[in-house]
Amino acid sequence: MVQVWNPNGKYRVVSTKPMPGTRWINLLIEQDCRVEICTRQKTILSVEDIIALIGDKCDGVIGQLTEDWGETLFSALSRAGGKAFSNMAVGYNNVDVKAANKYGVAVGNTPGVLTETTAELAASLSLSAARRIVEADEFMRAGLYDGWLPNLFVGNLLKGQTVGVIGAGRIGSAYARMMVEGFKMNLIYYDLYQATRLEKFVTAYAEFLKANGEQPVTWKRAASMDEVLREADVISLHPILDKTTYHLVNKERLAIMKKEAILVNCSRGPVIDEVALVEHLKQNPMFRVGLDVFEDEPYMKPGLADLKNAVVVPHIASASKWTREGMATLAALNVLGKIKGYPVWSDPNRIEPFLNENVPPPAASPSIVNSKALGLPVSKL
Ligand code: GLV
Repeated sequence: MVQVWNPNGKYRVVSTKPMPGTRWINLLIEQDCRVEICTRQKTILSVEDIIALIGDKCDGVIGQLTEDWGETLFSALSRAGGKAFSNMAVGYNNVDVKAANKYGVAVGNTPGVLTETTAELAASLSLSAARRIVEADEFMRAGLYDGWLPNLFVGNLLKGQTVGVIGAGRIGSAYARMMVEGFKMNLIYYDLYQATRLEKFVTAYAEFLKANGEQPVTWKRAASMDEVLREADVISLHPILDKTTYHLVNKERLAIMKKEAILVNCSRGPVIDEVALVEHLKQNPMFRVGLDVFEDEPYMKPGLADLKNAVVVPHIASASKWTREGMATLAALNVLGKIKGYPVWSDPNRIEPFLNENVPPPAASPSIVNSKALGLPVSKL
């Protein structure tokens, strides 16, 4: 149930799951790590399972967003001499960073490499919901298609409608650009920070359209989240999950959205009150959702699976081969960097040098979220 690479390596690194590609394994082996990969056929490992994997001596762990990395695991890792943990994910709401700080454990995540892949899935869900692709697919496979009809699976045209983005960080901005450029949608966004590059992009694209005699697109930074919910036709959620964003979309907020709006969530399930959403979908058959994440993964709230106006996929937004291999690489390098005493990369928005397979990666940890709290040195590269 554990696959071992380079048994005589000096540092013991554990991965709680097999991960795509081999580069991450090779990079660790080349730097004298013994790599142990848990191959158990159990999707979600418990805290006890992981304590057993950590054992008595462990220098670092690469873990998954399904695992509960809190006080118990960080103290076990620290007792085993470990100083590094990396989530193979950009989100780290499964990690108690304060507990990690207490034990001096560096916590890595994997930004940058999944931006476009995740935005592409959000765009796919938007289109699937707008054009009722899953319903139509099921209809076809059930042998129900007996000829073209004017009213068959009529959905929404995106062109000229408004796309709303809540959380215009890396992924939200990439999604906004895809929808604005690809489908000529107008943009309204809400974020605590101004998304200057995104605004400039939409302005320039509007100029381009105007110069070509087409209707220009527009953008607006909303003063409140409710403004986005009220005005947009397609809304995609891209905040981090913390206590300020828990049930951000609740019964009251669903009620202010347009009756035919489309809501997409590729962030974290608890950002939406899923019970309220199921009720809203039942009451409003023209309201549609595309969901990649759920409040109690791997479960869906009762009733959701029966609703035709919901498209549901199993948390696969980052699941492209290139991205998943890159995430594995970044997670491994986060752990390796701490073990080797390398500095932390200065700009987690610019991680490309770590992903070039033709050259050795920089001697740095690509992204450590508690580097300041631990006083880790920052790379000058
Ligand atoms: C996936 O959900 C991630 O946070 O990377």
